[in-house]
Amino acid sequence: MELIYYFIDLRTNLSKQMTMVDYTLVAALSTLLGIWGLTSYKDSNLRISRPPFVPSTIPFVGQIAAYLGEPMEFVMECYKKYGSVFSFNILTARFTVLVGQEASETFFKTHTKYLNASNAYKPVTNPIFGEEMGHAKFHQQLISLKSILNIEKYREYTPIVEDQILYCLRKLEDKGQRDMYQFTMTVASLESGASLFGPILRKHFDESAVPLLSFLSHSLTPVGLVLPSWMIYPFFWKLRKVRKQIKERVNLAYEEKQKEIDSGNDIGDGLGHFMNYRYKNGEKMTKNEILDILILLVASAIHTTGIVSTWALHYISQDEKWQDAIYNEQKEVFGDELAPIEYDKLDQCTVLDRVVKETLRLRPPSVMLLRSCEIPVTVKGMTIPKGDIVCCAPYVNHRIETWGDDREEFNPDRFLEYDMTKPNNCEYVPFGRGIHLCTGQQFGTLSLRMIVATMVRHFTFERPPNYNATVDFSTIIPRPKNVHLIYERRPTSTL
Ligand code: HEM
Repeated sequence: MELIYYFIDLRTNLSKQMTMVDYTLVAALSTLLGIWGLTSYKDSNLRISRPPFVPSTIPFVGQIAAYLGEPMEFVMECYKKYGSVFSFNILTARFTVLVGQEASETFFKTHTKYLNASNAYKPVTNPIFGEEMGHAKFHQQLISLKSILNIEKYREYTPIVEDQILYCLRKLEDKGQRDMYQFTMTVASLESGASLFGPILRKHFDESAVPLLSFLSHSLTPVGLVLPSWMIYPFFWKLRKVRKQIKERVNLAYEEKQKEIDSGNDIGDGLGHFMNYRYKNGEKMTKNEILDILILLVASAIHTTGIVSTWALHYISQDEKWQDAIYNEQKEVFGDELAPIEYDKLDQCTVLDRVVKETLRLRPPSVMLLRSCEIPVTVKGMTIPKGDIVCCAPYVNHRIETWGDDREEFNPDRFLEYDMTKPNNCEYVPFGRGIHLCTGQQFGTLSLRMIVATMVRHFTFERPPNYNATVDFSTIIPRPKNVHLIYERRPTSTL
């Protein structure tokens, strides 16, 4: 106050002669105000331009405990506290998370030279899927998948998928209790192998290969993002051993398939597709490249399908009304005798479709999608610096307030109202969006519908007393834990 009065006094006396002391004080204060102005301008600029930072009590370690413990709860809490864009650090890595429609649009729409997927996933995926991820050839391989992932092929795959599911179901006792995730991983592994890649590959990838493939899928741990590779080297060493075992099986299948192709009897399956494939420059795919793409596709397919179908069983075991609705719908669409499932009739199974959609909403297997910020990107007035790992969390987007008060509930009927055709919808993104939209979306949806429908056709499911299903967040595609359900063969089952 004294200072203000001094200045008022000074102003009113300005015309009067100023003393040396006055001049010195004005000069000193102007300098101070100038410095304060400059710093506060810079500060407010920083506040505007950088996303809010989630402080950590332990400076170097950052949010490692919160994130690795209950990552999705942590992200949800941060969203409630800091809004739709915020950053935090884990060890030396800085993460910026984008939540909700507007922020996520930036995530999915920004050009890959700014937000790059392969550079973000590389530390996690390269040891598992091989070095080809992100390589120019990899994009050609992905484009070439159209010839094994299209409607004509899905029609062909449907009876093969059903056959493999029935093969696994026949091995179940009439009544029992078991870990559904283990079971669905086996089902997903056999059905995707047999349909996408053909009978020869399926022969060499029987039930005995499931632990190897599961090991690969479960090795997608987030530690690769925050620790240098030398620190996790021993872990990679084990991975290399598993890849070698898988490679031996692929080699056997390759040789057998080569004989089939040479004899002119190629049935046009996925393995043959890759063996016959030519890059734009005319080169053939090497055996190693075939191994990498097969591992990528099988791991992408079995892990996600196994997880989502397990959660679907978890949810429908909570209330038999959904099991009855699916079962009755199967009868309406395929007749009382439950004829084999036909691809073109699956769209008439609308209850089944809603159950799958709602499971994917509550339990999207890819809970967090990643991009590496290569060039600074501005979102909602805040600039994400180069070097950040930028994240979009489908799990969180699927549970924010726009989903209504019952957003934590399993309610498939919400999809009766929901407009799936909304342009640029980033609120519901179980398969991602934009340039990296899941290549296997249709095949994944087909597998999920087939597994749930076929299991409900033959069995009923209920939860045992003290049922305690949880999530294991130790991999970047978190797994269901303790989904141990009681199953019982329906009296009508013809298995
Ligand atoms: C329930 C099933 C599935 C779900 C929920 C799912 C989810 C996703 C998501 C969210 C992405 C985008 C990743 C990102 O943007 O960073 C993705 C990409 C991908 N998915 Fe799937 N996926 C499923 C099944 C499959 C299947 C069956 C295949 C293979 C046949 C597959 C192959 C791929 C590939 C190759 C990519 C990378 C695409 C690219 O980067 O261009 N997925 N998936």
